[in-house]
Parts: sequence; C-alpha cells; structure tokens
Amino acid sequence: MRGRFSDRLLGKLMEADWVTAFTGAGVSAESGVPTFRGTGGIWARFKPEELASMDAFMRNPDLVWEWYAHRKRIIAEVQPNPGHVALAQMELLFAGFAVITQNIDNLHRRAGSATVHELHGNIERNYCIGCGRRYSNAEVLAQKGVPRCTECGKAVRPDVVWFGEQLPLEEWERSVRAAQSADVFLSIGTSGIVYPAASLPQISRRSGAYLVEINPEPTPLTDIADEFLQGTSATILPLLVKAIEETRTPQG
Ligand code: OAD
Repeated sequence: MRGRFSDRLLGKLMEADWVTAFTGAGVSAESGVPTFRGTGGIWARFKPEELASMDAFMRNPDLVWEWYAHRKRIIAEVQPNPGHVALAQMELLFAGFAVITQNIDNLHRRAGSATVHELHGNIERNYCIGCGRRYSNAEVLAQKGVPRCTECGKAVRPDVVWFGEQLPLEEWERSVRAAQSADVFLSIGTSGIVYPAASLPQISRRSGAYLVEINPEPTPLTDIADEFLQGTSATILPLLVKAIEETRTPQG
C-alpha cells in the first residue's frame, strides 16, 4: 500500500506502457459544471428530448439555443480542477496515454492534456446545419438569438452530439484503439450507462487492461472493475500521480 493505493495497482502502473483515462461529468463537478444524473443533475430538471436533440432544435430553436448559450457562458467561466490537472500530469509519466471524454466542456485540454478524444463533441465549437461552416463561440454569441450562417443563412448549432445522433466516427475509432491498447484503464466520474461510450471499459478489460473505477458512488461498472477507488476525482487523481512518482523514485 502507498497511501490509499494497493501494491497491485501501483505494480500495474509501474509496468504499464499505456494508460487510458475515460471521463464523464463527475470529473468536472468540482469545477462547478453540473452532472447529468442524480440530485441536482441537469436531467433531473430538464427533459433531454426537449433540449438535446435535432427534433427539439427544429421544433423550438430559440429554446434549445438559449439553453446552450447559457451553458457556453457557464463553462467559459469555470476552471479546470486538480483532477483535470492530475490527468495532464499523468500523460507525461507514460509512453502512451489518452483521455477519452464524454464531456463537452474542453476542460481537459484547458488543463494541458494533449491527447483527448471527445466522444460527445465540444461546446466551444459550432457549425452550420446547412453547409457545415464552422463558427467560434465568440462569433455565435455576438449574434442575438439563434445564430445564422453568413454563407447560406441556415441555423448554426453547437458541435455536440445530441440524442439519436451518431458519435463522431474518427473520435470513436481512436477511443476504441486507446481502450484496446491500455494496460491500465481508469473510468472516472461517469455513471457508465450511456452507450456506446459506456462499452469502452468493457472493451478495454476484454483486451487485458486492469480496470480501475474512480467515483464517489458505485455504478454498473463497479462489479466488473478490478479496483473501485471511492471518492472524488479532484481528491484521488492528484494523490495517484504523487504515488506513481514516489513509487518510481523511492525516497531514501
Ligand atoms: P452522469 O451525470 O450520468 O454521471 C456522473 C457521475 O459522476 C456519477 O456516477 C457520479 O457519482 C459521479 N461524480 C459526481 N461527482 C463526482 C466527483 N466530484 N468526482 C468523481 N465522480 C463524481 O454523467 P456521465 O456519465 O458523463 O451525453 O453521462 C454520460 C452522458 O449522458 C453525457 O455525456 C451526456 C449525458 O446525457 C450527451 O450529452 C450525449
């Protein structure tokens, strides 16, 4: 044991060439971005089908846009927390390292992670539903109401995956490869119930990874995990980085 981490986990990490971290809304909770499920979660207050689908955008573009504009403003003001920072530091400790995230808040990149596969898009990007032209948040938030494409006049939407939509193929394929390559797979702050993303821990374990879950609450994944580290990501991840560094360079 080193602190709260087992010799088995530290041994796996010492031998690992590849570590993959799979993150969900819980990783950003301590930055002040609400999670989706549970008390106070976004889907406890709003119906996903009324806000996060193409049908909803077609039916009520003003409402959907206003909701995303509000989230864009909240997310622009929050900062990465020690959990995000620890994952960026961990990337430097292994030959291969990837973050696969379901989050759209861009906080992993803002914390310094270089290899980030975004399965559900990124709220800082937008595109025209007609011609695909891309727009920055500064451009769309400067317009009143639903922004219009300067090329073709159609509506501009956030570049996030809505219910009923396919995941971006390239990000998905890279994520599957990162899951299959991992010697240690960390599933952090996700309820693990939204597929296909939620299949990645299983894919990784089937490919031989040591599966570790970090979450304050058990999830459907807990039973198949090799280890369940109960607690918040902003607490556990910095301690894990410290334990890896100390195990590599034993103190006199
Ligand atoms: P959820 O809201 O479903 O789950 C958040 C998880 O984070 C729960 O298991 C919490 O116990 C855990 N959690 C809460 N606080 C935490 C903390 N401080 N540290 C670590 N964990 C914490 O969010 P996701 O699993 O990300 O999809 O949800 C998956 C997808 O469902 C989202 O990407 C979104 C949503 O509908 C789309 O928008 C397509």
